[in-house]
Amino acid sequence: EKGNHRHFMEKEIYEQPEVVSHTLAHYVDFTAGKVRNIAPDLNFSAIDSIKIAACGTAFYAGQIGKYWLERYARLPVEIDVASEFRYREMPLPGNQAALFVSQSGETADTLASLRYCKEHGLKIGAIVNVRESTIAREADVVFPTLAGPEIGVASTKAFTCQLATFAALAIAAGRARGTLIADEEANMVRALSEAPRIASSVLNTIQPQLENLSRELSRYRNVLYLGRGTNYTLAMEGALKLKEISYIHAEGYAAGELKHGPIALIDENMPVIVIAPYDRHYEKTMSNMQEVAARGGRIIFVTDENGAAAATLDTMATITLPNVDELMMPLIFTLPIQLIAYHTAVFMGTDVDQPRNLAKSVTVE
Ligand code: F6R
Repeated sequence: EKGNHRHFMEKEIYEQPEVVSHTLAHYVDFTAGKVRNIAPDLNFSAIDSIKIAACGTAFYAGQIGKYWLERYARLPVEIDVASEFRYREMPLPGNQAALFVSQSGETADTLASLRYCKEHGLKIGAIVNVRESTIAREADVVFPTLAGPEIGVASTKAFTCQLATFAALAIAAGRARGTLIADEEANMVRALSEAPRIASSVLNTIQPQLENLSRELSRYRNVLYLGRGTNYTLAMEGALKLKEISYIHAEGYAAGELKHGPIALIDENMPVIVIAPYDRHYEKTMSNMQEVAARGGRIIFVTDENGAAAATLDTMATITLPNVDELMMPLIFTLPIQLIAYHTAVFMGTDVDQPRNLAKSVTVE
C-alpha cells in the first residue's frame, strides 16, 4: 500500500498535488474562473464574524484560514485551540458562524466545541476529511477535504487539503461580502489552479537538498522556526511536525517576537529555520535573520527565487522554491517543512508513521 515509499507519511506527502487538485476541483470552477456557490447556508454576507476551533495541525490550517478570511473577505475571525475554546464560556452573539476543522472528525475537544456553539444557536460549518465522522454528522454544513485516508499519524495531506478548502471559502466569502471583485476572484482562482503542478515540481526537485540538511539537523537537540504572516503559522506547524516524529525539541515563533525572548537561546547549537519568501514581510524577516547570524546562530533559509537573490547572509542551507502567488504560498512552502521533519526523523531512526505516545485520532480529552 505504500507503493515505492518507505512510510505512509512519505507517500502522503507525495500524494498532495493529486489530492489538493481533487479538493480544489470540488470547490472551484476553473473554466468559469470562479469558486462554486459552496456555502449558501453559512450566509457570509449576513454574519459579522466567525469562530474557528481545532487541534494541532488542523488548528494551524484554521489559523491560515483566519488570515485569508480577514484579508480577502474582511471577516473578523477568532480562533482558538479546541481544548481552550470549549471551556472559556465565551459569549456567542447570534450574528456569527462557527467553523471546526478536523481530519478524523472525531477529536473530542473539537466536537465539544462544536456542541457548545450549537447549543448557542450558531450556524456550524465543518471542514472534515472523514465524511461519516461525528463532527461531519453534527455540522449544518460540511466542507469535505478530499485527501483520502491519512494513515501516517503526522498530518500532511489533510493539512494542505484543509488549506485548499479555506482558500475557496475565503474567496466565496469575499464575493458574498463584496470585498473581492470578479477580476480578483479570477486571478486567485488561476493561482490556485496552478498550485498542484507547482507542488509536484517542487516535490520532484527538492529532495536531495533536504536529505543533506536533515542529516545535519538530526545532530541537534533543539530547532527554532521563524516566519511572519502565514509563514508564522507554518513555523509552528513545522516545529510540531519535527517534534512529533523526530523527538527533537522545536518551537515556532513569529519572527517579530524573536527579540522579546527567544533570541536569548541563540547560539551555534540552535539552528534556526527561517521561512521567508520575497513578500511584504521579507525585509523585516531579513533583519531578524541578521540578529540570529550576529549571535552565531546557524540559519536554514527557506525562501523563493526572488528571496534567495536578495539575500546577503551566509546560511547553513538555503532551500529555494519557485516564485509563486501569495495565496498559494502556504500550500507550497509547507512541502519542504514537511520533508525536513520526515527526513530528519528517518535519520534519527524513529517510527515515523507511529511516533511514540501519539494516536491518530484523539477521542478523549
Ligand atoms: C499533527 C497531528 C495532530 C492532529 C490533531 C487534530 O501532525 O496530526 O496535531 O492534527 O490531533 O486531529 P484531527 O484533525 O483529526 O481533529
